[in-house]
Amino acid sequence: MLHSNLSISNTGHLMIGGADVVELAVKYGTPLYIIDEDRVRENCRTYLKALRTHLPHGSKVLYASKALCYAGIFKVMKEESVCIDIVSAGELYTALRAGFPAENMFFHGNSKPDIEIEYAINAGVGHFVVDSAEELEKIDMHAGRMRKIQKVLLRVTPNIDTHTHKKIATGTIDCKFGTPIETGQAEQFVKTILAKKNVRLDGLHCHVGSQIFDEMPYCQAAEVMTDFIADLYKKTGWMPEYLNLGGGFGVRYTEEDPAIDYAGWIERLGEKLKTLCAERGIPVPALLLEPGRSIVGDAGITVYSVTGVKEIPGHASYVAVDGGMTDNPRYALYEAKYTMLLANKPKKPKNYLCTVAGRCCESGDLLGENISIQKPVKGDLLTVLTTGAYNYSMASNYNRVPRPAMVAVKEGKDFLAVRRESFEDLIALDTL
Ligand code: LLP
Repeated sequence: MLHSNLSISNTGHLMIGGADVVELAVKYGTPLYIIDEDRVRENCRTYLKALRTHLPHGSKVLYASKALCYAGIFKVMKEESVCIDIVSAGELYTALRAGFPAENMFFHGNSKPDIEIEYAINAGVGHFVVDSAEELEKIDMHAGRMRKIQKVLLRVTPNIDTHTHKKIATGTIDCKFGTPIETGQAEQFVKTILAKKNVRLDGLHCHVGSQIFDEMPYCQAAEVMTDFIADLYKKTGWMPEYLNLGGGFGVRYTEEDPAIDYAGWIERLGEKLKTLCAERGIPVPALLLEPGRSIVGDAGITVYSVTGVKEIPGHASYVAVDGGMTDNPRYALYEAKYTMLLANKPKKPKNYLCTVAGRCCESGDLLGENISIQKPVKGDLLTVLTTGAYNYSMASNYNRVPRPAMVAVKEGKDFLAVRRESFEDLIALDTL
């Protein structure tokens, strides 16, 4: 199986985290997101342990909550001593309602509305990751009004090309995120922040991209960032407490994707950082990492019911399911590849080549093309693996399709994490 939390039961059903996927589909209906909470916790612990072992005290894991955001996930993060990266007042609100401490939140985003900045400062958000001069002005002003000193990091662009999908690459100079180092703008920005009365600059941030399978960009980023830090120290006397190298560690969607040893990456990154700092004569900053996908990706699967099969001689065979781009827009957006199988007959040969079609009135609503699954018939449970990240969090109500329920599995027991949207939910905001 693609991930070690998946197996096949004696009765020939797909299992995740010790729970029978067919039974869950019967109990909760389809489409259904299933999240293996034990796996999420295990992934958090892998990161934490590696950071604690190989990096200075104060190094932290910030779960990028954009990958999967619902109240329950923040309880898990709190219990696992993981901080969070949030990008909107909506994520902030969800986390607060789940009892997550505001102090351990890092507020990201290239376009934070004033009203959200005020809300976050009032709520006591630990750090802002500042991304524009206008945002800085607003933070300084509002923090002053509240008689607070707001802690911030500055997001910069190290100009590193990660060769990942263009829509998820973020480290290059020509990008909507961050302030470029190369142009001298980042240095100027640091000086501006240091001159502010109500803001304290605690560190620097960069994020090179997402779904990255190569350690190199992180080492390159560490090099550029430590150069920048050493230069800044000479010019301003300022030394950051934190260096945040972002998230982006890849996960396996198919057998072709390599399995990443995250702990090994962090160990080598730690060594690299220590060497770079020694060469530049600067102290090793506490390292912050912001994994999203690699915390929740392999913990999730989505189960659909097959609604029909259409075979066109000489052309593709279409397997239609009761969900699609509304619960997983990633094929439509990025042609993202997935592994799929039938949860009620996973042992049968996967020799049926097909296009998996969603239910929306849109030809582009596909979950994949050239997908091999067991021969399907109506009612089979088509299951897409590795959907824990950027599926539920990117879901929509296009065609007024209600969002699926999400069930969590913990120590083999299941419980509802997010209930299925009802028709009432769909019209709840409409005036009649
Ligand atoms: N930190 C920052 C500043 C980010 O922008 C992101 C992701 C992360 C951390 C977490 O990256 P991860 O570890 O999850 O790769 N919707 C796309 C992915 C967009 C990523 C956005 N930023 C997808 O479905 O592939």
